[in-house]
Amino acid sequence: MSATAKKTAPLPDDIRAMKGGTPIVSLTAYTTPMAQMMDAHCDLVLVGDSVGMVLHGLTSTLGVTMEMMILHGQAVARGLSRAMMVVDMPFGSYEESPEQAFRNAARIMRETGAGAVKLEGGTHMAETIAFLVARGVPVMAHVGLTPQSINTLGGYKVQGRDAAAEKLMADARAVAGAGAFSVVLEKVPAVLADRITAEIDIPTIGIGASAGCDGQILVVDDMLGLFTAFKPKFVKRFGNLGEDGEAAIAAYAAEVRARTFPAEEHTFAAETPRKAKDK
Ligand code: KIV
Repeated sequence: MSATAKKTAPLPDDIRAMKGGTPIVSLTAYTTPMAQMMDAHCDLVLVGDSVGMVLHGLTSTLGVTMEMMILHGQAVARGLSRAMMVVDMPFGSYEESPEQAFRNAARIMRETGAGAVKLEGGTHMAETIAFLVARGVPVMAHVGLTPQSINTLGGYKVQGRDAAAEKLMADARAVAGAGAFSVVLEKVPAVLADRITAEIDIPTIGIGASAGCDGQILVVDDMLGLFTAFKPKFVKRFGNLGEDGEAAIAAYAAEVRARTFPAEEHTFAAETPRKAKDK
């Protein structure tokens, strides 16, 4: 699917059908203007729980709540007309039981209009994924580095190296078998990502994985250079908005202090002007 070929938002089945074709383009978004900026260019927009770190200053995604995901999901939905929106299920909203997962997934879809939810976990989440899919909730799975589990994974390490490759392979097979329509592969060796992509029948969306995946995703604030607290190796900065923004703010501060802003064109005359633009 090209950026101009389709006018309505793709459905999970459309994304699934992109397996093995033109790579699926996806980014995260958390606000309306950012969603508007990417709508024409992305097939899929994820309201990621990374919002907690990049917009709210949290040190991990563990403190993200359902309310935060719903509020940002609603904002992103207002900025999209052609890309599919997926909303992350936050830590603690789905792990307890398939029933808990359904209750919260249904609330996310009802209150944001999301076309699907994403949840983290492989083999141990397969039962929950099957439960959701059977009840009308399309699921994007997420295996490899699952940031909601950093405390048990021992940090933000590469997953699936050496003997751990077979376990990750099994995780990918399990989520595909359970009915997920796509799966994010985060921070896994490139050869393993290629093996998984070749073996499972749903699209793999890589982040720190391989150019051979069926699609790619990045956190938008990372790739725009807006989030600069740290930069994972897999991030390529396609812009430097953080630096540009700080330079603009410094220029504003200097002009305010020098009384060169506001200039005459930014101020209002005492008499009612004839031209509407001056009102
Ligand atoms: O929360 C997020 O932004 C994500 C992506 C990194 C895949 O899960």
